[in-house]
Amino acid sequence: MKVSVFGLGYVGSVSAASFAADGHTVVGVDVNPDKVASLNQGRSPIVEKGLDALIRDNASNGRLRATTDTRAAIEATELSLICVGTPSRKNGSLDLTYLDRVCEQIGEALATKDSYHVVVVRSTVLPGTTHDVVIPALERTSGKKYGTGFGVTVNPEFLREGTAIQDFRSPPMTLIGHNYRSDAQPTEALYARVEADVVSTDIRTAEMIKYASNTWHALKVCFANEVGNLCKRLEIDSHEVMDIFCRDEKLNLSAYYMKPGFAFGGSCLPKDVRAMQYRAKEVDLEMPVIQSILGSNQLQIQHAVDMIADLGKKRVGLLGFSFKAGTDDLRESPIVILAEALLGKGYQLCIYDKNVSIARLVGANRDYINTQIPHLSALLIESIETVIETSDVLVVGNGSPEFADALRKTRPEQTVIDLCRVKGIDRQDIPAAYTGICW
Ligand SMILES: NC(=O)c1ccc[n+]([C@@H]2O[C@H](COP(=O)([O-])OP(=O)(O)OC[C@H]3O[C@@H](n4cnc5c(N)ncnc54)[C@H](O)[C@@H]3O)[C@@H](O)[C@H]2O)c1
Repeated sequence: MKVSVFGLGYVGSVSAASFAADGHTVVGVDVNPDKVASLNQGRSPIVEKGLDALIRDNASNGRLRATTDTRAAIEATELSLICVGTPSRKNGSLDLTYLDRVCEQIGEALATKDSYHVVVVRSTVLPGTTHDVVIPALERTSGKKYGTGFGVTVNPEFLREGTAIQDFRSPPMTLIGHNYRSDAQPTEALYARVEADVVSTDIRTAEMIKYASNTWHALKVCFANEVGNLCKRLEIDSHEVMDIFCRDEKLNLSAYYMKPGFAFGGSCLPKDVRAMQYRAKEVDLEMPVIQSILGSNQLQIQHAVDMIADLGKKRVGLLGFSFKAGTDDLRESPIVILAEALLGKGYQLCIYDKNVSIARLVGANRDYINTQIPHLSALLIESIETVIETSDVLVVGNGSPEFADALRKTRPEQTVIDLCRVKGIDRQDIPAAYTGICW
């Protein structure tokens, strides 16, 4: 393909050289004439292992050149990658000056170009930026319409400086956000020789995935450091701990626990986070990330209370009472805390949970139910139909499979608040208004 790459910084120069190495004809564009000259002389404009050789080889075989002339670059290519910087302003907001400017320059060049051109946003931008900034700037300056006059995709970069070429060759995935298949195809074709799954999604989702990824990486670093700091105080080898920790790919490094939903609870997680925090306090150690976990969890419960309060209806039915489907364990169940908050605010509550009802009569948790939460136990109803019949708001508290069927029997004037993204039912099969706690 014929590709122009705007911005010859870390991302742009690695992408430009690597695309050329894959057989594409690449024009790099930068406002900095020194970077352009450097690339044309076969030297890397940045320090990155292996990049000098890649640029030298591809500049000499004619597949890679650079220019400061946007119009010429657009004319000579069918697709452009935007790799300009999107730095932080002092207040933390994203500075889109370079992005805005490069879109205007590309748009001005597109105004006189006859053929369809796809603009690929590779810079990291917050969700909404492509729709609110990139597309309007391109439309304003080109006089063309997005979708017919030109295409746009979002293709976040996952490379790490220092191993950038290797990461380009073998990234975790090739992520393409698009609204039209005709735009995704040429973007995908660019990566034909890259070893990675192509993942297609919409533009805003692709923008968000980049932020979720980088914030996750940042969280991992701070988490590991905090665990390390505690290990050092306790004279335990933190590397041995984390090496073994990382061998658990079922629960520790996996998709498990990574579904947005309700607060955690149960007999282990809250207790163990608290105990670890307390131990850190005893050895005078601050662990700001770990210390914020229980507060964040509490806020998620409050968030559910607020969602229910916003509806302004008083009869609430809880479907699911234990912290997890298929268990009768109510210890530190966030639904119990939610129920108590609602009761305290004067809501009329009824609760359905098959496992808890059985436990109330014969199970291991009978004592807990009868002594710790008799006021809630009295609200347990044996029939799920009765809960549905007598409630204005239905809150799905755990993923018990029977709830999917029950939701089919709701009425349009009711509202379902789903805390766990109930499975086995399509939204359109739920007659009531449906809303998820964080989706
Ligand atoms: N550096 C990384 O490891 C990395 C990894 C993934 C994503 N990203 C994201 O990629 C984007 C680029 O990052 P970077 O580190 O390569 O930035 P950078 O600052 O190293 O390079 C940006 C380049 O864009 C050029 N530029 C600015 N305006 C231009 C214009 N109008 N026309 C042509 N060129 C122009 C600048 O002169 C500069 O050379 C950012 O959004 C960043 O968040 C960076």
